[in-house]
Amino acid sequence: MQSLSPPTSLTQTRTASDTDKAMQKKTTVDLKIRTPQETEIDAILKLFEYEVRAGKMLPRYPDKIRKELDNWLVATDGDHVVGCVSLVFFDDDLCEVRSLAVDRAYRGHGLGSDLVKAAVQMAAGRGMHRVLSLTRAVSLFERLDFHQADVACFPEKVWRDCEPCPFRDCCDEVALVYYLDDSHH
Ligand SMILES: CC(C)(COP(=O)(O)OP(=O)(O)OC[C@H]1O[C@@H](n2cnc3c(N)ncnc32)[C@H](O)[C@@H]1OP(=O)(O)O)[C@@H](O)C(=O)NCCC(=O)NCCS
Repeated sequence: MQSLSPPTSLTQTRTASDTDKAMQKKTTVDLKIRTPQETEIDAILKLFEYEVRAGKMLPRYPDKIRKELDNWLVATDGDHVVGCVSLVFFDDDLCEVRSLAVDRAYRGHGLGSDLVKAAVQMAAGRGMHRVLSLTRAVSLFERLDFHQADVACFPEKVWRDCEPCPFRDCCDEVALVYYLDDSHH
């Protein structure tokens, strides 16, 4: 498996000086990344509210999330859900990092990257070989050793998601892939 350092720590405490204004009311934050509970689905949906309303993201549906809860991770600060990510599996080789979101007050401090790292670890644990991402946050993924790719190389993705997508004629997302073994290098 290619080197990808584990999330800084799945449980980490950062001081307020590391964080932005919205977090300065607190002296510390207690960030954890873990599988969500059903009761946290509304909080997950809230993380996408702005992007969905702005037409930058397709809506996510609670029933679908409930059915696939084991494929989701949330970042929590105490009792609060402040970030999430999910994996979507195409077959026993390829999966996709999807639904990455971080509460606006917590952005820019590496939490999004930690969620992606945790999702890659989850993919490795499920025996996957390739992890795909379609994203605008290209620098975030490239820093984690994802490599830009042509989405046409992923017919599983194109046929299942891109063809029926309402944004398909104006898609500004870039495909990137992470290889979990050395056979592709
Ligand atoms: C994308 C997101 C999860 C990043 O969370 P984060 O905690 O700020 O992530 P990190 O601190 O690890 O990394 C931030 C990097 O992502 C980049 N980034 C975030 N959103 C971006 C976007 N829409 N377009 C381009 N780059 C973006 C930032 O510019 C920053 O890069 P830099 O360090 O080179 O300046 C967060 O911005 C978010 O929730 N955005 C709205 C939801 C969304 O767009 N999700 C889709 C992403 S696949």
